[in-house]
Amino acid sequence: MRKHIVAGNWKMNLTFSEADELVGAIMDKLEQVTLDPDTRMIICPPFPYLEMVSDYGDDSYFTVGAQNVSDQEKGAYTGEVSAAMLESMELDYCIVGHSERRAYYHETDAIVAAKVNQLLAHNISPIVCCGEVLEEREAERQFEVVKRQVVEGLFHLTAEQMGNVVIAYEPVWAIGTGKTATPQQAQEMHAFIRSLIAEKYGKEVADETSILYGGSCKPSNAKELFANPDVDGGLIGGASLKADDFVAIAEAF
Ligand code: PGA
Repeated sequence: MRKHIVAGNWKMNLTFSEADELVGAIMDKLEQVTLDPDTRMIICPPFPYLEMVSDYGDDSYFTVGAQNVSDQEKGAYTGEVSAAMLESMELDYCIVGHSERRAYYHETDAIVAAKVNQLLAHNISPIVCCGEVLEEREAERQFEVVKRQVVEGLFHLTAEQMGNVVIAYEPVWAIGTGKTATPQQAQEMHAFIRSLIAEKYGKEVADETSILYGGSCKPSNAKELFANPDVDGGLIGGASLKADDFVAIAEAF
């Protein structure tokens, strides 16, 4: 069966020593609790801290992922980080197509698709984000928007490649706003995404694909969200910066 995943996206937060302290606190907390054995925790720190966080590494606690990757293989792309570099650091996951990257850095579905290709070619599972903005939800266009993002970003893949993809549904109006999608809204969209995958790749691939919810997920709402049959975990921003909250969310399974 598909994995339960609780992934922390630190975004552009924390100094090196604050980051070090946070991982230490997460490790301490994880030693005190017993998580469901099917729950995988992932921490996605900024690039300069990847090695430090990996060094805490014991995959039985958490695995490490990046927040972004270049759409190019290698060469003269100042400031970029390639999938080959991430692979050489033995990272397992990388977030792609986060709404902040789409909005502030003009990432199109085609760029998202190119990044997904880079990651899969280097044995890294992409965590591909999709989600509508407020005006789109108000105009009841959320299904059309998410369908476009999923189809254009992913549906060029083979079924085997699709088996290595994680999807995160993050309604943009819920990210960092304190507003959360209701469990019904999340379930409805997750079931829709799974039906798109089933149509294209068959039920088996769809049933194996983890679909995470993101957007103001916190200890007080995680249980209700994760109780839905098609919600397989969360991509956590703000609450992943607090060890207690992050681990409490993982305990919600
Ligand atoms: P948030 O962010 O939990 O702070 O809303 C989620 C995300 O952007 O991944």
